[in-house]
Amino acid sequence: MARTVWDSSVGKKTVMAVSGLIMLLYLVVHMIGNLKIFFGSGEFNHYAHWLRTVGEPFMHYEWTLWLIRIVLVVAVVAHATSAYQLSRRDIRARPSKYVHKKARASYATRTMRWGGIILGLFIAWHILDLTTGTVHSGGFQEGHPYQNVVDTFSTWYGNVIYIVAMLALGLHVRHGFWSAAQTLGAGSRSRDRALKTTANALALLLTAGFIAVPVGVMTGVVS
Ligand code: HEM
Repeated sequence: MARTVWDSSVGKKTVMAVSGLIMLLYLVVHMIGNLKIFFGSGEFNHYAHWLRTVGEPFMHYEWTLWLIRIVLVVAVVAHATSAYQLSRRDIRARPSKYVHKKARASYATRTMRWGGIILGLFIAWHILDLTTGTVHSGGFQEGHPYQNVVDTFSTWYGNVIYIVAMLALGLHVRHGFWSAAQTLGAGSRSRDRALKTTANALALLLTAGFIAVPVGVMTGVVS
């Protein structure tokens, strides 16, 4: 049964929609959490510490955080795998490339594919930068994310990487939210306008909210 659903294009699209919405929920929470940086290092670092102790005493140190990490990894892998397989199907189903020289994929589809690749690379960079510190520009300090974030946005390339990725994120969420709603059957003549407005608002809110952090550091509001 699960196999039949997974093998169908509708099944893969449903997996994409559900995993996308899980990641979207995480992003809204992450964006709001990041804005705490404007309230100073004490509040921001305290929030990062809370992320590790939430659920105690029932949960052990970092258990809740690891649970969230596992859900996110499963969502990313499911999203990327189904995206890859759906694109392969789409390419294979195309008429011979000698007859049709032009790519058949629409502008939106191509933007989603490139956007997905950019975001995948960004997530890898972001974790190596601010979670493990492997590619971090300053002396990475575990438990002091405020200073780490300031260091990242004190380099030109840090700002470029994050701002380009946030713009890609906005475009990806805008079209992705809309597609997910259609796949999950929420679309209808009367609701499509409202869904489009929600998709635009979500994309704008996320992009602006995330970009506020590098802009805050660049302008010296956060230092
Ligand atoms: C300007 C934008 C962003 C800033 C300033 C930022 C900041 C941070 C910081 C400081 C951490 C480490 C938190 C800690 O160790 O307590 C973190 C972790 C993380 N962020 Fe972001 N983030 C941004 C955008 C994003 C975006 C767009 C995504 C996803 C597409 C994302 C996904 C993650 C993930 C998956 C983690 C790892 C959580 C973990 O396992 O510890 N972030 N971010």
